[in-house]
Amino acid sequence: MKLGVVILAAGLGKRMRSELPKVLHPLAGRPLLGHVLEASRQLAPERIVVVHGHGGERVKATFADHDCVWVEQAEQRGTGHAVIQAMPAVSDLDRVLVLYGDVPLISPATLRALLDASTRTRLGLLTAELVDPRGYGRIIRDAQNRVVRIVEEKDASTEQRGIQEINTGFLVADRHRLSEWLGAIRDDNAQGEYYLTDIIGLAADEGVPIATTQPAELAEIAGVNDRVQLADLERIYQRWAAEDLMRSGVALADPNRFDLRGRLVAERDVHIDINVIVEGDVRLASGVRIGPNCVLKDCVIGAQTEVMANCVIEGAVVGRNARIGPFARLRPQAELADDTHVGNFVEIKKSRLGKGSKANHLTYLGDAEVGEGVNIGAGTITCNYDGANKSRTTIGDRAFIGSNTALVAPVSVGDGATIGAGSVVTKDAPPDALTLSRARQATLKAWVRPTKKG
Ligand code: UD1
Ligand code: CA
Repeated sequence: MKLGVVILAAGLGKRMRSELPKVLHPLAGRPLLGHVLEASRQLAPERIVVVHGHGGERVKATFADHDCVWVEQAEQRGTGHAVIQAMPAVSDLDRVLVLYGDVPLISPATLRALLDASTRTRLGLLTAELVDPRGYGRIIRDAQNRVVRIVEEKDASTEQRGIQEINTGFLVADRHRLSEWLGAIRDDNAQGEYYLTDIIGLAADEGVPIATTQPAELAEIAGVNDRVQLADLERIYQRWAAEDLMRSGVALADPNRFDLRGRLVAERDVHIDINVIVEGDVRLASGVRIGPNCVLKDCVIGAQTEVMANCVIEGAVVGRNARIGPFARLRPQAELADDTHVGNFVEIKKSRLGKGSKANHLTYLGDAEVGEGVNIGAGTITCNYDGANKSRTTIGDRAFIGSNTALVAPVSVGDGATIGAGSVVTKDAPPDALTLSRARQATLKAWVRPTKKG
């Protein structure tokens, strides 16, 4: 059976009080709609159709590289009306699953169970039992416990409002039958809207069985209407992410102070201290230790390496057994080999640091190729930018760069060379020799310190 997923995302999201369309607000660093698209994709549907509202250009642009069909619902005339807009885009498919762009935590497992419970002749409806069902549509069942219809809260009697089984909104139906039922719904209700939920009553009237399944977790069906709800779901997402990591062998000093905004692949016995933010794609090999307050983005860190407090690492590759920080910044294309040491207030960009090399304090390495066993003294700067162009610095194996050296690129320092502290190196320094460029120190014996006149 060919499945089409229809994601409703036309709501205005007024209560977010934001210029940003609601479904673009990030949860775990990714737009709400991105989460729903990801869950949809896991079901391997034939097609994903997103119903967007007025001004959906920004939403479309955000997901330009996604393989989905966009349909506009210019006026929000109800969930049924929204699905009607999408029907032409799924006219060649067998079944339609309806999802919501502002209900981000829905899991593929819950959706699969819903799909499995339905057939071409049996509708599938995801429901939930809530202690406080306020605001939701209620599920009305007959004496045989069969679902007969859904009543929206605003249309419900006091007695019906007491029902705790609610409509989550998620449903799957035969595409052809759905089209027929959608053609029959009316907007003669309390909100003057075309309710998608009315198809349930129409189906039941025709004797179509309605199978109900429940989500594994209630948070899966929670929608985002304002920033408070968004923050609540963020915490739930983070709790789940932290639990998954801990179960896979990662030690988190405090799962409530860890934020995953991307994917983390971690081997055994990785230890992550508090307030660490992981973004993009991060891989941590076994035994890596991450100190407090670090930001790791799109990086790979080798086994047993320790990243101390307050480091920002982005787009970098670090070898095994290295020591980074505290207060180090590794920028894109920093490549640090095994056993390297990078200390406080060291910034490295687009540079390679060979095995066992050290830059322990106050240094900037940009566009540099540093060999093995090199010692870079405190305050070393590669002057890689002349205001117009970037140039490279090459430093050979076992070189020793004295403190406060400015290496004016393009320049190279040979293997085993020593650069005297305080040098400004503008010409290549030969191997195995001392090179220095600094004013000679002088002492004026006859000099007298001035005294105050008068
Ligand atoms: C809907 C259900 C209700 C269910 C609840 C679960 C209907 C009539 N009611 O109510 O039974 O308990 O969800 O949260 O379906 N949308 C559009 N276009 C529209 C209207 C809505 O795209 O014209 C989208 C919204 O962006 C939102 C979703 O559909 O993502 C739900 O719409 P909303 O108006 O919030 O429905 P509820 O009244 O909450
Ligand atoms: Ca709602």
